[in-house]
Amino acid sequence: MPNSQKDIIRLRAEIAEHDRLYYKDAQPKIDDQAYDRLKLELAQLEAAKPEFNFDASPTQSVGDDRLDAFDSYQHRKPMLSLDNTYSSDELIDFGRRLLKRFPEQTLTYLVEPKIDGVAVSLTYENGQLIRAVSRGNGIEGDDITSNVRGIRGLPDSIANAPDTLEVRGEIYMQHSEFERINAAREAEGQALYANPRNLAAGTIKLLDPSESRNRQLDIVLYGIGACEPSNYFTAQSEIQESLNDWHFPILEKYWLANGIENAWKCIVELDTIRQKFTYPTDGAVIKLDNFSLQEEAGYTSKAPRWAIAYKFEAERAETLLKEISLQVGRTGVVTPVAILEPVQLAGTTVSRATLHNEDEIQRKDIRPGDTVLVQKAGEIIPQILSVNLGKRPVGSQPFSFSNHLKALGVKAERDPTQAAWRIVRKDDPIRQQRALQHFASRACMDIENLGTAVIEQIVERGLVKNQADLYTLTEAQLLDLDKFAEKSAKNLIAALESSKGCKLWQLIHGLGIPHVGKQSAKDLEAKFNSLEAIASATIESLEAIDGIGSIMAQSIHAWFADADNHTLIEQLKAHGLNFDSARQEKVEGILVGKTVALTGALPGLSRDEATQMIEAAGGRTSSSVSKKTDFVLAGEATGSKYVKAKELGLSILDERAFRELLA
Ligand code: IVH
Repeated sequence: MPNSQKDIIRLRAEIAEHDRLYYKDAQPKIDDQAYDRLKLELAQLEAAKPEFNFDASPTQSVGDDRLDAFDSYQHRKPMLSLDNTYSSDELIDFGRRLLKRFPEQTLTYLVEPKIDGVAVSLTYENGQLIRAVSRGNGIEGDDITSNVRGIRGLPDSIANAPDTLEVRGEIYMQHSEFERINAAREAEGQALYANPRNLAAGTIKLLDPSESRNRQLDIVLYGIGACEPSNYFTAQSEIQESLNDWHFPILEKYWLANGIENAWKCIVELDTIRQKFTYPTDGAVIKLDNFSLQEEAGYTSKAPRWAIAYKFEAERAETLLKEISLQVGRTGVVTPVAILEPVQLAGTTVSRATLHNEDEIQRKDIRPGDTVLVQKAGEIIPQILSVNLGKRPVGSQPFSFSNHLKALGVKAERDPTQAAWRIVRKDDPIRQQRALQHFASRACMDIENLGTAVIEQIVERGLVKNQADLYTLTEAQLLDLDKFAEKSAKNLIAALESSKGCKLWQLIHGLGIPHVGKQSAKDLEAKFNSLEAIASATIESLEAIDGIGSIMAQSIHAWFADADNHTLIEQLKAHGLNFDSARQEKVEGILVGKTVALTGALPGLSRDEATQMIEAAGGRTSSSVSKKTDFVLAGEATGSKYVKAKELGLSILDERAFRELLA
């Protein structure tokens, strides 16, 4: 067999394996760019050997995400892929080819962000959403309707719509949600998800819809498949307008450009603003706008000839790995973090990167002192791709997780079922310190003057073992600690005293119940109004809360059933901490019963600050705009939420008007 034939067979098998990992398992082993390179290499070999049968080649198909557990459903119109390029010259060539085909025309292109999510096709019949299907193999996909219904902002019905309509778009996960889920997994010692796209892909394929609802997904729609009547639209840009009229979440920005050179200018602009979008983007999609020209241009077996994806290179840089630091989470899980010589990447300074777990360090043989290649692709947390072995210092040794733990005096055990190390003993001082740091943090009880250095000392001296012991501290004990003067001791005692009046959700969050973050703590307070009611809640009643799924419900139930935690709660109560919802006190606020949607960056307030002000006035915030929204607090007059608010005739306040309202 000639070498090129062997290479073709090898590459086809290799790419098929990567397709399986990406589409079916949602756990790719290589990044998009590396994958695209393999595909390009295969396509070039195949082009030089046209005698080989292409039908079985991954270059001729769109992958396949179907799983046995789901029903399959055939798309009325296939869901194709796109040819892609990383080169502006190839993009210009694409335009020239079309110009050859249509020499008499001025070609208008629609330039859209390319969303790095999971493709979905929604069928609306007589205006009602009846089905959601994954892309599958492009011809038929998995029926994921129950997981897709209820994604925020997705309308169940649309008015004045064609009889049958397939709406196409991407499901994605916001970065903040991705981090929330990973933090909870870290606390549980479970393997972390590599990026929001994989997690979104895994979430829409969960078999239990309530589990899927436990994770916040979002959706954005940009196109259509089948449409009856078929002449309903005449151009791609009309679709954008109609999707907006039907109140779908749509692209935050798109451009109409005359000629491919102008389209390129739009792509350059997109690259400067895309970090601000709520969805992750990895490129631009350039589409011929006019539908009759699209039809004339036609299709290959897997992609239209009238569109192309231009992909942005993920930014990478080499830097020095100064050390591998082992960090203990609030529930005792030890995670390795790479401490880097700071380096500029994708507009931010990167000085830390995730190392996931021991296996990842071994697999890549990453050692302190190595020069490493770091990548930050879109929303993905910085990762170490590889080690530059040519720059490895002489005498360098592989990193030993267990030796490192020993040197630090940390008594952790490796979980036999996972790649995680965990401090098993609850009375281990390091674990106690982490639990106390979490309790004292801003997002929880916000206890000023109770920093890491103080916590270390009070735990080391055996003064405090759990959160309740904090309230037994005396001024005299504090004065005995390093760097404590009378004033600082008095301040800390006062801060502890005032923390007893914290809101119930702050306490719930501060307890460090696995999986329970700030929002879930607020949801629990809103539903149960007291800590005792939560402690005696059944799994079913916990699960009935919007945003709490079965894993979290079980975790809360198990936490309160634990004897030590029971004692802790009794002690906290005896110290007089607030166990009840304070909502009644807020009845006076100007925003009681009002829902405020936030959009765009405000000049003088962070999102958190604006949320706090709204909640302090008795209102609640939402991130989507609907008829239930009372008003919109908008940073700038752009974006789909702004447009939607205008259409619904909602009042839109800027920061000044908002401050005046509250004043
Ligand atoms: S149009 C027939 N527009 O990227 C052409 N696709 O790599 C259909 N994608 O299959 C695709 N953003 O899942 C289109 N603005 C956008 C997109 C987009 C993301 C996805 C889509 C497509 C894949 C191709």
